[in-house]
This record gives sequence, C-alpha cells and structure tokens, in this order.
Amino acid sequence: MILAPSDENIRQAAVLLGRGELVAFPTETVYGLGADATNEEAVRLIFAAKGRPAFNPLIVHISGIDKLDAVVRLDSGSALQRMVERLAEKFWPGPLSLVLPKQPTIAPSVCAGLETVAVRVPAHPIARKLLLACGCPIAAPSANPSFYVSPTTAQHVVDGLGDKIPVLDGGACSVGVESTVLAFDGVRPMILRPGGVPAEEIGAVLGLSPRELLANSEASLLASPGMLPHHYSPATPVKLSSAIAAADFPPKVGLISFSDRAEAQFDYMHITRLTRDNNLAEAAQQLYAALRDMDKRGLDLIVVDSCGEEGLGLAIMDRIRKAAAKFSAE
Ligand code: TXA
Ligand code: MG
Repeated sequence: MILAPSDENIRQAAVLLGRGELVAFPTETVYGLGADATNEEAVRLIFAAKGRPAFNPLIVHISGIDKLDAVVRLDSGSALQRMVERLAEKFWPGPLSLVLPKQPTIAPSVCAGLETVAVRVPAHPIARKLLLACGCPIAAPSANPSFYVSPTTAQHVVDGLGDKIPVLDGGACSVGVESTVLAFDGVRPMILRPGGVPAEEIGAVLGLSPRELLANSEASLLASPGMLPHHYSPATPVKLSSAIAAADFPPKVGLISFSDRAEAQFDYMHITRLTRDNNLAEAAQQLYAALRDMDKRGLDLIVVDSCGEEGLGLAIMDRIRKAAAKFSAE
C-alpha cells in the first residue's frame, strides 16, 4: 500500500519496523525494502518477500556517521578508520556503501554469514526521517523481486511486491542506480559494484586511479557473493546494440538510446531516449523506468545503446550489461 510521507505515516512506519515488520521506503538511489537490521526474524522476511538467495548480503542504512559504531567495528586510529572517515565526510549522506567488519548485534542473515557488513547513510529526506524515527539500523536491499529491475518509484515497488507491504512515497529517485559498494582488502580499497558515486570521485579522495579501485573486480565476484551476472533483467530479452546486427532483429524491437545515431540504425517500434544532451546523471535516473516501460510493451527484443564509461557511465553500463547477460547466456 502506497503511503504519503506525512510525519504521522513515517512514525507509523517506524513502529512497524520496531515490531519486526517490513516497510519499503525511498532512497536517492532506488527504493529499499527495510527491516530492523538487528532482528534476525525480520531480516528473513526480506529474503522471503524478494525470493532472494540467502547468500546475497544486504546493505544497512544508518541516519548518520554517529551511528556507525553500532554497525561496524573499526580500531580507533587505524589506517582503515582514517580512510572511512575521509570517505564518509565527503560522500555521506549519499550513494556510497562501505563494507566493513560487522558488530555482533547485526543479524547474521544481513551479512549472509560473512564477518563484514555493507553500510551507508542515505541522502533521501524520507529515509533519514524514518531512520531517526525508528532509531535502529535498517537493512534494505532494493524493493523488487530478486533478479528483476530495481524500483525507482513507489508504484514500481507495488508492481513487483504487491500491495501488502507499506511503501512510503518519495516520488522518483534522483540518482536512479544503486550505491557504489566499496570494500577493503586489508587497507586496499576496491569497488565491488559501481554505482551512484563515480569511481573517479572516490579515487580523488583516496589518491588512487579508478583503474586501481576496479582492479580487483574479478576477484571480488567471490568476495561479494551477491554480484551475480544476471541481475536487473526485464522479462523481455535485452541485447546491447553493439552485440547484434540489424539483420538478426525479430519483428517487434524497442530501443533505449543515448543518441540519434543509434535511433537511425533500424525501424524500431518504440524508442526511449535516456538523455538529450549526454547528461549521464539524467540517463541513470531514467534507466530503470525505461527498462520497465519497455518490458510492458509486448516487444520481442529490447536493444540498448551504449554510453561512455566515465563517471556515472560505468554504473549505467554495468546495469545494462547485467540486464543483457541473462539473455546472452541462453
Ligand atoms: O543503493 C543501494 O545500495 C540500495 C538502496 C536501497 O540503499 N540497496 C541495494 O541493495 O542496492 P542490494 O541488496 O540490492 O545490494 C546489496 C549488494 C549485494 O548484492 C552485495 O553485492 C553487496 O551489496 N554487499 C552487501 N554486503 C556485503 C558484504 N558484506 N560483502 C560484500 N558485498 C556486500
Ligand atoms: Mg538489488
């Protein structure tokens, strides 16, 4: 059920979380399906509602850096702690999740049995009000059935999870792709999932190149068990425009594009342009709604054009490749 984000509804939602129930809420990236991160039974409800494999850990949301110690263990004065402080100061509240050693109070299912937990301070005002009202850390993956496209509106949540779960309505998410997940191999930072904070910006804070931050991404497939190659897929087959020739096209094809050039290549039945002026923030914000809209049109194929992989382009192309991966493997 979709709820207006009044103070009273936020207070009620906090009460439900305190009782071990689920609440969906907006963040600046995508909508989250939340439960009290310290309540194992409540967290298990998330996995059941999403059909999520138990080996895929969740992200824990806190209201501010003052709550970090309740979720993670950092030796004071350590190099890791200093790095976390610099990152938090620059990027929180915002779309950066840090994978750090967990406190024992965090429910085991949140971390899929790992000794680490991913944590972030969301920037969305409704998420922050909810976190302050409930006082507990909130574990929340994206509020969609596992393997489908993440939700960027309250209606997307209801479309995927039904009308039983309360959804605080915060309108369309402003970032539109999930947070960047940054983990540490000792003190060596590595990006496990590109996302709303570009690798270049993290690199600038840490004195590393984006390439160095991404260097471990092969190995990180093991370190981050949730990073399955076939996330984020619509039901309609998706292919990258670079992977097919027009001669292979079935009769009903839609295009999600970044430019005129892609649009001129074929007589598409439907075209959605993600951005008119190569604005990658706008493209990221539109991407999931565009995939969902295409999926409702009864098409045989969704072709997706490519953008450059600088800045947010890295996260955008990561999600597009994952949407296409399920179908290229078939
Ligand atoms: O923007 C976001 O991050 C959204 C909003 C709701 O905050 N949440 C989100 O959660 O995208 P989810 O569950 O779809 O993605 C969580 C991912 C996991 O798939 C995994 O790759 C990584 O975060 N992760 C979580 N805990 C981890 C850990 N302890 N070690 C390694 N990776 C972890
Ligand atoms: Mg997800």
